[in-house]
Amino acid sequence: MEIEQALKSDADDLAYLIDIAGEGMPQYLWSKLADPGQGALALGAQRAAREEGGFSYRNALVCRDRGNVLGMIIAYRLPAPYVVGDLNDYPEIVQPLIQLESKAPGSWYINAVATYEAARGQGVARMLMLEAQEKGRLAGCSLASLIVASGNKSARHLYKQLGYEDVASEPIIEYPGCPYGGDWLLMTKQLEG
Ligand SMILES: CC(C)(COP(=O)(O)OP(=O)(O)OC[C@H]1O[C@@H](n2cnc3c(N)ncnc32)[C@H](O)[C@@H]1OP(=O)(O)O)[C@@H](O)C(=O)NCCC(=O)NCCS
Repeated sequence: MEIEQALKSDADDLAYLIDIAGEGMPQYLWSKLADPGQGALALGAQRAAREEGGFSYRNALVCRDRGNVLGMIIAYRLPAPYVVGDLNDYPEIVQPLIQLESKAPGSWYINAVATYEAARGQGVARMLMLEAQEKGRLAGCSLASLIVASGNKSARHLYKQLGYEDVASEPIIEYPGCPYGGDWLLMTKQLEG
C-alpha cells in the first residue's frame, strides 16, 4: 500500500469516495446540477478531474495497492480571512458547514476522507490523515481542521486518536439520504512546526 498524489484518471474513484465521506450530500447536490441524462456521480467525477476547485484531484492523495485505489483524502488551506458573505448564496444544507469552516481561517482543511468498504480497518484512513497533515505542515499551516457528523462514530474515533478536538458545532440540516441527525462538529489539531 502506498500513499500517492491522486491522478486525473482517479476521478471516478474520487467522486465515489467524496460522496461517502460527505455522507451523501455531494451526490444530492451534484444531482441538482447534473445535465439531463447525466448521473450525479458522473458530474462529481467531472468536477474531481478539474484543475481548480476544492474537490480537484490536485488536492487529493490516494492510498493505492497494486494499482487499485483503496481510499482517498482531500485537503487544502482555507482562505484567511474567510469571508462568508451572504449565507443565502449557499444551499441551505451547506450553510452550517460554511459557518464552521469560517471559524478555522487559514487552517489545513481536511474536506473529505474515505476508504472503500472492503479495505476498512487496515489503517488506510490513518495513513492518509498522517500524510495529509504532513502536506499541510510543509505548506506552512499550523492548524489542521475538519468537520464530522457527531453520529459518525468510526470517523470521530479516528480523529480523536490523532489528537483532534471539538471546537464548534452547528445543527445538521437534513437532506434526502442524510444518515445522521445531530450536529456537524468542527475539530482542529495543532500541526508541529
Ligand atoms: C472513517 C473511515 C474513513 C475509517 O477508514 P479506515 O481506513 O477503516 O480507518 P483505519 O483502518 O485507518 O482505522 C483508524 C481507526 O479507526 C477505527 N475504525 C475504523 N473503522 C471503524 C468502525 N467502523 N468503528 C469503530 N472504529 C473504527 C480503527 O479501529 C482504527 O482505530 P484503532 O487504531 O483504535 O483500531 C471509514 O470508515 C470510511 O470511509 N467511512 C465512511 C466515510 C466517512 O465517514 N468519512 C469521514 C467523514 S468526516
